[in-house]
Amino acid sequence: MTKSFSSRPVRPRRSVLYLPANNSRALDKLPGLSCDSVVFDLEDSITPGAKDEAREALRSFFSDGRAAALPVGMEKVIRINALSSPWGAEDLLAARGCKPDAILIPKVDAPEDILAVEDALDQTDAPAGLRLWAMIETPRGVMNAGQIARMARSDGARLDCFITGTNDLLKETGVTALPGRPWLSPWLMQIVLAARAYGLDVLDGVYNDFKDEAGLARECTDGQAMGFDGKTLIHPAQIAPANTAFGIAPEQLVQARAIAEAFALPENQDRGVISLGGRMVELLHLEMAERLIEKAERIEARQGGDQAT
Ligand code: COA
Ligand code: MG
Repeated sequence: MTKSFSSRPVRPRRSVLYLPANNSRALDKLPGLSCDSVVFDLEDSITPGAKDEAREALRSFFSDGRAAALPVGMEKVIRINALSSPWGAEDLLAARGCKPDAILIPKVDAPEDILAVEDALDQTDAPAGLRLWAMIETPRGVMNAGQIARMARSDGARLDCFITGTNDLLKETGVTALPGRPWLSPWLMQIVLAARAYGLDVLDGVYNDFKDEAGLARECTDGQAMGFDGKTLIHPAQIAPANTAFGIAPEQLVQARAIAEAFALPENQDRGVISLGGRMVELLHLEMAERLIEKAERIEARQGGDQAT
C-alpha cells in the first residue's frame, strides 16, 4: 500500500521562507522569525558570480553555531542548483555537509532528477533522515508530477515535499499572472493531486508583491482551500498571514475535539458512523480530527519554543 495523505507524518509547514544564502542581514534576522521552515537559497536569488560566496556563507552559518541556535522546530532546507548546472555538484556536497533537514532540488522534470541526487547522496553515506524536496516548476515537471511523486513510494525514499514554482511556470508557459490565478490553477491542482497520491506534502508558490497584504491574504486563503499545506514566502512580513491561513482556527479545534470525544464514548466504541449535532460523522472524520489535533499540538509546541527563545 502507498503512503496516503492521512498516513503521512503531521509536520506544520504553514510558512516556508526563502532566504538568499549570501544575505547576511536576512540571516541575522532569522532567529526572531516564526516561519515553520526556511529555505536557504543557492539557486535563482544568487547570481552566477556570487555562487561561491553564497555557498561559503552557508557553510559558515551551519558550522559556527548559528544554525543550531535557530528556534526549536524551525525546519532547515537548502535549495541547490540543478545537478545539470555548473554549480549543482558542488552545491550538493556543501549542502550535505551542512546537515540540513532537507535539500530542495529545483526544476525537477522527471523521476531521474530525483534519482541522480539520491544516488549522489548515497555515495557520500548521507544520513537516512536527510529528506529531499522537489520544485515542480517546468511544463515537463507538471506533466510528470505523478511519476515524480511516485519516487516517495519505497521505504527508504527521501522525497518528502513538493514546492510549486509559480514564477518559473509563468515564465515557461507564457500564462498571464492574474488575481485568483485562473490559468495557473489547473496545473497547481494537478501537482496537489500527484503529491497526495503518494503521501507528499505540497507547498504553494510565492506572492511577489510583498507590500500587498490583502492580496497575499487572499492567495493564502485560496491556497489553503486548494489543499496546499503552506505557502512559500519571500519576506518576513508574509509569515504571519501564512501562519494564520494555514493554521487551525479555534472553532476547528473545538469541532475536532468534539468528534474525538464522541467516538470515545462507550456506546460508540463499535460504531463506524455516528450523529453529532445533526450531522453524520464517520471514522474518516475521526481520522481527520485526530490529525488536526496533532497539528494544533505541534504548532503550539512551536510557539512555546518561540517564546522561550
Ligand atoms: N528572510 C529573512 N529576512 C529578510 C528577508 C528574507 N527573505 N527579506 C528581507 N528580510 C529582512 C531584511 O534584511 C530587513 O532586515 P533589516 O531591517 O534587519 O535589514 C527586513 O527584513 C526588511 O526588509 P525590506 O527592507 O522590507 O526588504 P529588502 O528590500 O531588504 O528585500 C527582497 C526585499 C525581496 C529583495 C528580499 O525580501 C528577498 O531577497 N527575499 C527572498 C528572495 C528569494 O529568495 N527569492 C528566491 C525564491 S522565489
Ligand atoms: Mg524557480
